[in-house]
Amino acid sequence: MRTLPALTIALLAAFVHRCCLRMADPFGDVAGLPIDEARAALFTGGPNGSTFPAALVGVFESNRRLRGATLLFTEEVVGSECVGVAPNGDLLMLDRNGFVFRATPQQRKGGALAYELSKERHYVGPGRPLGFHVAGEWLYVCCSLKGLLRLHLGSGAIELLSGATGSPPSPFAYANDLDLDTSGAVYFSSSSDHPVALHPLAGFYDTMRGRPALTPPRGYLLTSLHGGTTGRLLRYDPASRRTAVLLEGIFRDTATRISYANGVALSADGAWVAVVETNLNRVLRFWLRDADCRGGGGGGGGGACPRAGDTDVLIDKLPGIPDGISRAPDGGFWLALVAPLSPLPRHLAAWPRLRTLLSHLLPWVAPFAVGSWGAVVKLDERGRPTPVEALYDPDGSHVATVSAATEVGGRLFLGNLGGRGVSVLQL
Ligand SMILES: *[C@@H]1O[C@H](CO)[C@@H](O)[C@H](O)[C@H]1NC(C)=O
Repeated sequence: MRTLPALTIALLAAFVHRCCLRMADPFGDVAGLPIDEARAALFTGGPNGSTFPAALVGVFESNRRLRGATLLFTEEVVGSECVGVAPNGDLLMLDRNGFVFRATPQQRKGGALAYELSKERHYVGPGRPLGFHVAGEWLYVCCSLKGLLRLHLGSGAIELLSGATGSPPSPFAYANDLDLDTSGAVYFSSSSDHPVALHPLAGFYDTMRGRPALTPPRGYLLTSLHGGTTGRLLRYDPASRRTAVLLEGIFRDTATRISYANGVALSADGAWVAVVETNLNRVLRFWLRDADCRGGGGGGGGGACPRAGDTDVLIDKLPGIPDGISRAPDGGFWLALVAPLSPLPRHLAAWPRLRTLLSHLLPWVAPFAVGSWGAVVKLDERGRPTPVEALYDPDGSHVATVSAATEVGGRLFLGNLGGRGVSVLQL
């Protein structure tokens, strides 16, 4: 009587195996790539990566400060990765479909945080906007589908600034976040070489999961399963209208590119630019000028004094998965930790075929791969910073999937990658 279950399992296995063989290759080029030991060591739970479970001690100690945030526009605005603040105090939000919302501060008794949504709507779609930044009358947007563009907030006119780099120009994919310097040059990230995919049911460009059956587009989770590193830091020069690659190989190793490049922010003095490397839970620092190491300032970390073109690590071993970064008025940075750490990537690192198989099952794998919480940390402006504070909603029941934080006028505005509305916290 034992043979029947065994036979059933064997038949099922043969059937599943056949189905997997007939499925489209989710990555277009090769299936899951091998991940070498040195990189796997930097993953969560690895000897050189974040500890797992996350060490929420010291500055990182858990608290409920984000529970005090006021939720805004939970019905109207879905999936605005960040919140921009115009010079007049108006809020700007871009939803996951590419609609631009503006909201005006309201005078309320007792200084309550209230904003009213304007009827006016602009549109920068199709495609999913991620990071954006207000500069005067312009809203600069990283659209993960189209590239770097800007929207004139008065007229609604759109200008595509950059979609390709190099000579002859080759298109880049997956623009993610940006910052501008005083000359108008734009520093921005391209998370991966593979474009994002349209979600077949929900009808928006899904940067989180991607669509396994389509080749070659994919989102964050597919990129992680694939195991490739194709992130880049780019610079758009408004004078020449050209886009240059600043950083693809890290530590002079051009074979290894950024493992999902994400948030971008310039230092207050413009000497370096921070770029978040999401899959390794760290923030890199690319030097635009030679560091001023006299008196121990600027360079940080002991070691050699960084020169223009060097890359070092601003902060690593973070206790959550980092997403957006923005400069605070005091010269420090707000870094959003969009989701709690997962030990899964490290467990799967040595198994490229298993990763290929799982990529076909992504809708079922995803809930196990990504947990939920709300978390932002404040970094010091000096080299090798120790965070100065961390704000949480431990289970994400009030504020979750915080993808970027912007501080203006003593208020911290929080974007929300995965959910409804945005939020604001009085600091
Ligand atoms: C961890 O980092 C150190 C210093 O960079 C390096 O020497 C060591 O080989 C790394 N460990 C692993 C397991 O890769």
